Amino acid sequence: MKDEATEAYFNEYTPEYGVYRFEYAVGAIRRLCKPGSSFVDVGCGVGNILEFIRNETPIENLCGIDVSENCLREARARVNCETYAGSIVDARFVSGIKKRFDFVMLAAVLHHLIGPAKRECRRMCEAAVANSLSLVKDGGYLIVLEPTINPAFSTDLIYHVKRLVTRVTTRRVGIFDKWNNIGAPVVAYFTDYELVDMLKAAKGCKVEDVDVNERQMNLMYRLALMTKRAETTVLVRKTAAR
Ligand SMILES: C[S@@+](CC[C@H](N)C(=O)[O-])C[C@H]1O[C@@H](n2cnc3c(N)ncnc32)[C@H](O)[C@@H]1O
Repeated sequence: MKDEATEAYFNEYTPEYGVYRFEYAVGAIRRLCKPGSSFVDVGCGVGNILEFIRNETPIENLCGIDVSENCLREARARVNCETYAGSIVDARFVSGIKKRFDFVMLAAVLHHLIGPAKRECRRMCEAAVANSLSLVKDGGYLIVLEPTINPAFSTDLIYHVKRLVTRVTTRRVGIFDKWNNIGAPVVAYFTDYELVDMLKAAKGCKVEDVDVNERQMNLMYRLALMTKRAETTVLVRKTAAR
């Protein structure tokens, strides 16, 4: 279950996404953390979220995981924390990480887990959630943040258009502006209810809270006949040893 196209994309572009999406997550961490609490950012990218967590919460014990070596290099330069290079879908890689964390963040990663069909994408997401939960201490928290869209057929439309375009070119294909892109990377979005249902079905944990923060829809999303676009954050408590 290796997704080389996504890894190559993030090695080439190393984009930085806004920290405004983490307002709810930071509030939850401040409320729940204890002295000495630890935090790992799975799919940490260039480290801006790790830096935000260090600045906005009492947590100092930070760690980053990513498939992109280039992103991790930038993250280490920025935060100077321990990092691990590998895929969260890969159970062998994850079992090699011996540390357990009070908080595991999985932000904007699930829609980048791309298989040959949507069924495989969902299987990769389930594996990513199970592997992320294995990094959480008993009683600790997994925080999943995902851009979600509705209705479900819009998520299929975006996935299939991007798959078609990436057969012709491996590059981004912008339309109108830099955030309207129908080329690489291929993405498989969830609706908010699909995301919550998947997390509720995961073993050894309990969904404690859901924050759905609706966002403005730009032209590309309207063209995909979308009715709702949001940043969905789900707070999941690990309830039992796995
Ligand atoms: C859209 S960026 C999100 C970065 C950051 N988490 C945020 O929310 O701003 C997705 C990140 O996930 C990483 N990623 C993609 N697939 C991954 C995988 N299978 N395992 C770990 N990281 C992955 C990418 O390299 C990239 O840095």
